[in-house]
Amino acid sequence: MSGQFSNALDLADWSQRRLAQVEQTLRQGIDAHAPAGLGQAMRYAVLDGGKRLRPLLVLAAAEAVGVDLEAAVISAHPSAVAAFRAACAIELVHAYSLVHDDMPCMDNDVLRRGKPTVHVKFGQAQALLAGDALQALAFEFLTPQDGSTDLQVQAVQVGLLARAAGYQGMAGGQAIDLASVGLPLNEAQLRQMHGMKTGALLLCSVRMGAVCNGKPPAQVTSSLAAFAQALGLAFQVVDDVLDVTADSATLGKTAGKDAAAKKPTYVSLMGLQAAQAFADKLYQEALAALAGSGLNPTSTQALRALARQVVQRDK
Ligand code: IPE
Ligand code: IPE
Ligand code: MG
Ligand code: MG
Ligand code: MG
Repeated sequence: MSGQFSNALDLADWSQRRLAQVEQTLRQGIDAHAPAGLGQAMRYAVLDGGKRLRPLLVLAAAEAVGVDLEAAVISAHPSAVAAFRAACAIELVHAYSLVHDDMPCMDNDVLRRGKPTVHVKFGQAQALLAGDALQALAFEFLTPQDGSTDLQVQAVQVGLLARAAGYQGMAGGQAIDLASVGLPLNEAQLRQMHGMKTGALLLCSVRMGAVCNGKPPAQVTSSLAAFAQALGLAFQVVDDVLDVTADSATLGKTAGKDAAAKKPTYVSLMGLQAAQAFADKLYQEALAALAGSGLNPTSTQALRALARQVVQRDK
């Protein structure tokens, strides 16, 4: 299935056209004049960096269910506005999670997206607050007060993002991560941790995109969820692999940290080659789930291309 459709789309071109809108919305929506330097720290954490995978997944999922993101006047299409706002919102939550993940009380990292981490540049208190404020701002993005998106869609997306970011998702997974240092987790435990700390936001990206037009058919919802769950796990497996195989300059973050910090990873569990093979297997699983969605293969091209990029990336 994968080979049949996967080459039709120029992913770089597709991404560039959509990200132009995302970057502009983020740039305009993060107030540089937030008090006492907080705005500068927030902008530093979000702008000019990152692969923007989660926003792209939101937009690809929205297109898969028929949202027109190439409309001449986006503002005239509530479903397209909802997709772009959700794309920005998930990136804000992701950026917040990175700011906190890098702090000395968590992973204690000094390099992120090729720059000094937020706490190194602005101090720990400001980093903590920047993360807090970015999380809240995400929900502001999802709830415009100007009637530009449907209120029912807003409510559904808010519920999805809150649950994905909180104790059942990212934050819960991060708690498990910190509690697991030095412990030999088994595959089920590692899958659970990765699924929560990383997978939850990727799944949420796809879900938020898929509801921009209203509720999709049950088969579409469940297939997209299966696609995103496989992809979310693959993403963190590849993150674990790259921590071992890539260098800091390429990654834009410190390589080799997981072993040094005694973090249980898929590489520590099964070895490098098996972890790489596992990521490929998850990629195939993701494609199979998508193929079972009943969606038109042309409309799911971007989702397939993004999935391939997740497992083939070098950073
Ligand atoms: C890094 O995420 C943190 C993980 C969840 C593994 P990304 O690799 O998507 O980081 P950016 O957004 O490109 O910087
Ligand atoms: C981070 O996982 C997951 C988050 C929720 C931020 P990692 O700690 O492995 O991410 P990196 O390697 O620092 O980007
Ligand atoms: Mg971490
Ligand atoms: Mg980290
Ligand atoms: Mg990592």
